[in-house]
Amino acid sequence: MKAIPASAALKTAVLAARQAGGVMRKNQNLTTKAVNQASQHDIKLELDVKCQQLIEKTLKRSFPQASILGEEGVSGDPASEYRWVVDPIDGTVNFTYGIPHACVSIALDRRVEGGEFQTVVGVVYDPFCDELWTAIRGKPARLNGRVIRVSQREKLEESIISLGFAKHRSTLNRMLPVFNTLVPKVRKIRIMGAAALAMVYVASGRLEAYLEYGVRWWDVAAGGLILECAGGSFLHEWVPKADPHTCRILASNGRVEARMKRYF
Ligand code: IPD
Ligand code: CA
Repeated sequence: MKAIPASAALKTAVLAARQAGGVMRKNQNLTTKAVNQASQHDIKLELDVKCQQLIEKTLKRSFPQASILGEEGVSGDPASEYRWVVDPIDGTVNFTYGIPHACVSIALDRRVEGGEFQTVVGVVYDPFCDELWTAIRGKPARLNGRVIRVSQREKLEESIISLGFAKHRSTLNRMLPVFNTLVPKVRKIRIMGAAALAMVYVASGRLEAYLEYGVRWWDVAAGGLILECAGGSFLHEWVPKADPHTCRILASNGRVEARMKRYF
């Protein structure tokens, strides 16, 4: 299979992310957005699908050899050496309600020994703040071209910790006791509603850690690499007996990791 150079992949992923971000920006103020599916804690929009189609078209035009693992569907050869991991709109509920805190997340995973994948390129784009995070494995992470690093904070009492509750009663039940325990110990808890942005906020030193049980791989693949390339730590394990690609994660600046690990 034809190898994919990381720099070319990054360029294409940035183009695709900006295209989808443009669609998000254009539609942000629509009071009603077409809903394909809704449950108590989740919404899927027609625009989620449209944005994924746009992204796929751009990625496949340059790299037809890579498969796609997306929130809105999978395509291509599942045995392929490369796969794009795509969350076309992360933070769909925010976006639906007009809260400008949502993003596009695109990662390129490459198969390594044992059949597992390793993320080699990551792009997260917030079209509302026009902030673009990028990383190539082994190189520094960047925000709008500037190198970023995680924060130096070590004490929980000085830390801002972000949590995600995923979408199910079982994940809420798992995270609520963590919320209750942490609130009095930390400076602030934030529940902002876009996992990929929480990851890159940790990478940028805006948050000390992000914790979620039941998050999906497309929410965190790009942000996880960006975080590691910014000097942070990305712990993730697959959740057994859950939907495919479901994990629990602890993303941190590394310095608060030991104190946060008991909640992971
Ligand atoms: C969700 C958001 C949310 C997180 C969920 C994700 P979506 O993604 O990132 O913050 O808690 O686990 O599934 O549905 O907005 O793309
Ligand atoms: Ca998502």
